[in-house]
Amino acid sequence: LNVIPNVSGIPIIGSALELFGDIRAFFTAQYLQHGPVYRVKALHHRFTVLAGLDANVFTIRHGKHHFRSKETWQQQDIVFGARRSLVSMDGADHIYLRKKQKRGYSRGMIELNIPQTIKIAQHEIQQWPVNQSLPGLYSMQKIITEQLGRTIADFSPKEYLDDLVYFIRTVQTTTVTKQRPRFFRYTPRFYRAHRRILAMGQKVIDNHLQYPPEDRPQNLIGDILSLAREDPEFLPASDIMVAILGPFAAGLDTAASATTFVLYALLKHPDLMADVTSEVDSVFGRGELTPSRIKECDLLHRTILETMRMYPTAPALQRTVTKPFEFGDYTIQANEPIIIASTVPHYLAEIYPNPEIFDIDRYTPHRKENRQPGSYAPFGLGPHTCIGAGFAETQIMLTIATLLHQTELALAPKDYHLHIDPIPTPSPDRHFRFKVLRHRH
Ligand code: HEM
Repeated sequence: LNVIPNVSGIPIIGSALELFGDIRAFFTAQYLQHGPVYRVKALHHRFTVLAGLDANVFTIRHGKHHFRSKETWQQQDIVFGARRSLVSMDGADHIYLRKKQKRGYSRGMIELNIPQTIKIAQHEIQQWPVNQSLPGLYSMQKIITEQLGRTIADFSPKEYLDDLVYFIRTVQTTTVTKQRPRFFRYTPRFYRAHRRILAMGQKVIDNHLQYPPEDRPQNLIGDILSLAREDPEFLPASDIMVAILGPFAAGLDTAASATTFVLYALLKHPDLMADVTSEVDSVFGRGELTPSRIKECDLLHRTILETMRMYPTAPALQRTVTKPFEFGDYTIQANEPIIIASTVPHYLAEIYPNPEIFDIDRYTPHRKENRQPGSYAPFGLGPHTCIGAGFAETQIMLTIATLLHQTELALAPKDYHLHIDPIPTPSPDRHFRFKVLRHRH
């Protein structure tokens, strides 16, 4: 029996320092040195890591027979007062709940709301003063959160933004990723945010009951409340709130960070920025954006694909092993906490030649470097693959298209060098700022 290699790190804190920086880069470097299976110790946590193309293919093909999400996410459910939630469920129950929520999280849902989504971005952008340095991530969070709330829940979460960000961040980093110790949840700031977010969730429900969407298909909130009414054993009262707040918990940081990375990539590549800007100007010039006009923004789409390859905002998946299996000359035991380092293939030169180079032509029909199953996984793999992937892609396209059409932007300072802040999902750090050179339209 082969012994799984331990990744060496600084004594006591293990690999914590590396894990707390660019997580994707750390997992890739260890894969290149140790192969597809290795053990990582970070503070008091130990994980077995599965990495590389074969790990992704295994997860796609056999993940549902060997991995479980429950242990990873159940602490988060408890903070929400819930028994279980979409992310923490497995097997048939998970498939059933996912089916019930599919429509509410779909690309179709945002496609029904294109003018509103653009208007939210425009409204925010118009308030940006010229020639003043603005924070990258926070500026995107303001737009993304409002779009998410209005599109998915017919609710404006504007006045809750700071509490939402703080609450979700603290819950995820203390329960799921364990990048922070538990005591972060026992502070007056957290108690206040918790109270406010539960109140917001209740408002979302009350608002829905008072003004149900009549002239449109049922939204996510309606689908959740109907399921709770029809099948209270499956979705009891205790589990409603975590489902209602689900789109914010899952979508806010991931989509806002991804949008911030796209903005960063464009500002770092002025020629590409100019080409994508002419593309979106031409599409906007032909009238209101429609789903088929969005599809015409090919350069923008490939820019987003390449950004999510190089700077994935969900770099790895956490699971528990349910049934032992052989993988890469090793036996992986039942009950092991594992990490599937799902985005390691994003930087393997045999899949993406010169992986450190930002190159949107990787996705042209004759190259299609991401075509191999498992080679491209910004939205995860297997049964829990992001249910909001199509929604997120369209949301990011609409937001960046509006941004480029409305303004001319520059990095501030010009020589900003990317440093990734990994908490709670990777994003350009707080020094990433930009300024408006002029408002265009
Ligand atoms: C670029 C943006 C996004 C990225 C990179 C991303 C990534 C992911 C990943 C990797 C997972 C799988 C987690 C796991 O298997 O443990 C996931 C699940 C999920 N995502 Fe996203 N996501 C994004 C945006 C969104 C948005 C905007 C929404 C909501 C509108 C959303 C809703 C969800 C939900 C509800 C799940 C749980 C699905 C399940 O457990 O079956 N995501 N996402």
